[in-house]
Parts: sequence; structure tokens; C-alpha cells
Amino acid sequence: MGPFAKDLLKDKVILITGGGTGLGRAMGEAFLELGAKLAIAGRREEVLKQTAGEMGTDGKEVYFKSCDVRDAAQVQELVEAVERHYGKIDVLVNNAAGNFISPTERLSPRAVDAVLNIVLHGTFYATLEVGKRWIEAGHAGTMLNIVTTYASSGSGFVVPSAAAKAGVLALTRSLAVEWARYGIRQVAIAPGPFPTEGAWSRLSPTPELEQKMVDRVPLGRVGSPEELAHLAAFLVSDYASYMNGEVVTIDGGEWLRGAGQFNDLLEVTGEQWDRLAELTRKGK
Ligand code: HXC
Ligand code: NAP
Repeated sequence: MGPFAKDLLKDKVILITGGGTGLGRAMGEAFLELGAKLAIAGRREEVLKQTAGEMGTDGKEVYFKSCDVRDAAQVQELVEAVERHYGKIDVLVNNAAGNFISPTERLSPRAVDAVLNIVLHGTFYATLEVGKRWIEAGHAGTMLNIVTTYASSGSGFVVPSAAAKAGVLALTRSLAVEWARYGIRQVAIAPGPFPTEGAWSRLSPTPELEQKMVDRVPLGRVGSPEELAHLAAFLVSDYASYMNGEVVTIDGGEWLRGAGQFNDLLEVTGEQWDRLAELTRKGK
């Protein structure tokens, strides 16, 4: 686990929504390596069962339970079950999400709800359910919300996701202040492109779109799940205990590439720069 002490997360009980696949699974694997006890949830029980079976070797503890985070009653049952199983929860990772690309004018109300209900309502329900219990029990804890870089900027063609993730970011920053007095920390990660099956099948379904995604990244590549998992491990660990309300971007510089007004000059060749230099120095 690279720079981390083996017992960085020893005995911390960590609940990850959407922990059966993709980045949720990668975070779970890293947390287990660092001594955590894991609970994973998602809608598909067979996926959770397989993931838990594959991760739960060498004495690593993985509990799973199917749960649709859009349903507050199911979220309550999940949190109760995890507490019953482990006796406590120390960290909640709100990672479950839904998303797809579409021109906004093509969306039906049900399509909007599909994304908002998972991302915004699901995150809110889990946050409330766990937070109320921590406050009642006087138990300190950390909540890590997985957002996106366009939670801050907005983005066309994924507008329900952008609106929902912006809401989650607001939740993160709001509760960082309101719940700090209970010892509850809020942090978030804003990932750039990480080619998970779930994201790529819905957002970059052709080689051309995938290449465009890579071309936008100054570092010239997509992220690896382990890179994100290492960041998550630090953020939920006690070494990040003074971080509260922060969103950490991990995107190879992608969003800044789009933001800087002159960044397209990256495409200018050396010869073209010679000519441009002549033109721009003319005023002297
Ligand atoms: C337009 C669509 C659509 C699409 C579904 N709908 N997919 N509309 N384009 N591609 C519409 C349907 O027609 C329907 O509306 C409504 O949405 C609900 O569809 P269901 O299939 O019934 O929804 P449901 O089974 O609830 O599934 C939710 C989902 C699905 C979000 C649509 O994709 C899902 O389960 N996703 C979970 C995993 C996921 O999305 N992972 C990616 C996360 S990546 P009508 O009106 O026809 O009934 C991410 C950030 C990436 O979040 C950033 C990248 C850099
Ligand atoms: P993923 O594998 O599709 O992960 C989404 C997970 O959420 C799945 O395990 C899914 O499991 C679960 N989920 C969806 N709807 C749910 C519901 N209603 N209730 C409970 N669980 C539900 O995609 P990923 O790329 O790993 O995404 C993980 C997180 O990273 C998301 O928050 C996403 O927005 C964020 N992110 C990803 C990228 C990227 O490039 N990959 C970039 C920015 C942000 P079930 O289908 O079994 O329910």
C-alpha cells in the first residue's frame, strides 16, 4: 500500500455505497489492506456477493447487503444491519451513482429522477441515517462523498448528474460546519476520468469518445482506481483529521485544461511559435 502504514485504518468500520464495482470496489480493497472492516452495498446482491467473496480472503472482513439508496427505508435497514454486524460504523463513503450522456432536451422526467434520486437523495439519506446515529451516540466519524470535477463547473450532456453532484458538494460543505461540533468530518473527492465499466459504458461508449476524454487530460492518460483509492484512504484516516469540508480533485489536470483561456495554445508547434513571436513582438 505504498506510503501507508499497514494499520492506517485498523479496526475502522467503513461502509461504502456502490462498493461492489468500479471505484467503490477499489477503495474497499485499499481500506481492507490497511486494516479496515468493510461493508459494501448496492442494488445487485449477486455482484456484492462475488466482490465480497473475492475481497474477503486472508482474514479480511467484508459484510454485504443489497440496498437501493433511493429508498430511505432500505438505507435505514442497511445502516442498522451494518451496526448490528460490526457494532459501529466509523466511516461512510457515499459512492453510489447513476449517470449517462444525453442532450438535456431529450430527457424525460423519469430519466432526471433516475440520476437525482441515486446521487442526491441517496447520498442525503445515507448521510442522515448515519449522521443521526453518530450524533445520538456521541460517536465521531468521517463522511467521504465521491463527486465529480463538474460538480463545481457544471457540464452539458450530463446535466442531472452535474446538478446532483453540485448538491452533494453543497451538502459536504454545509455539514462540514454544522456537524463538526459532533466530531463528524466531511470530505469529498472529485475524480476526473477513471475507466470503470459502469462509467465508460454510459459516458464513453465508443473509441472516439474515449480518445477525446484522454486527449483532454494534460498528463495524457486516465486515472487508475488505485490512485483514487490511495487518496481516499488518506482522507478517511486520522492523518487527515484537520481536513473538513474540502473537495480534493484527482484528474491529471483535466478541469484546469478546460478552464484556462489560453490552454489551447498547447496545440501550437515550435515553428508556429516562431511566427507568433514575431507577430507579438511587433509593438516593441
Ligand atoms: C436517455 C435514459 C438513458 C440514456 C436511461 N434513461 N438511460 N435516457 N439516455 N442513456 C431513462 C429511461 O428511458 C427511463 O425514462 C429513465 O431513464 C429510467 O431508466 P431505468 O433504466 O428504468 O433506470 P434505472 O434502472 O433506475 O437505472 C438508473 C440509470 C442506470 C442511472 C439509468 O444507468 C444505472 O443503473 N446506473 C448506475 C451505474 C452508473 O450509472 N455508473 C456510472 C457512474 S459515473 P423513461 O421516461 O423512458 O421511463 C459518474 C461520473 C462520471 O457518475 C464522470 C466521468 C468523467
Ligand atoms: P460504477 O462502477 O457504475 O459505480 C456505481 C455503483 O453505484 C455501482 O456499484 C452500483 O451498483 C451502485 N448504485 C447505483 N445505483 C444505486 C442505487 N440506487 N442504490 C445503491 N447502489 C447503487 O461507476 P464508478 O465509475 O465506479 O463510479 C463510482 C463513483 O465515482 C460515482 O460516484 C461516480 O459518480 C464517481 N465518478 C466516477 C468517475 C469515473 O470516471 N469513473 C468520474 C467522476 C466521478 P448497483 O448497480 O448494483 O446498484
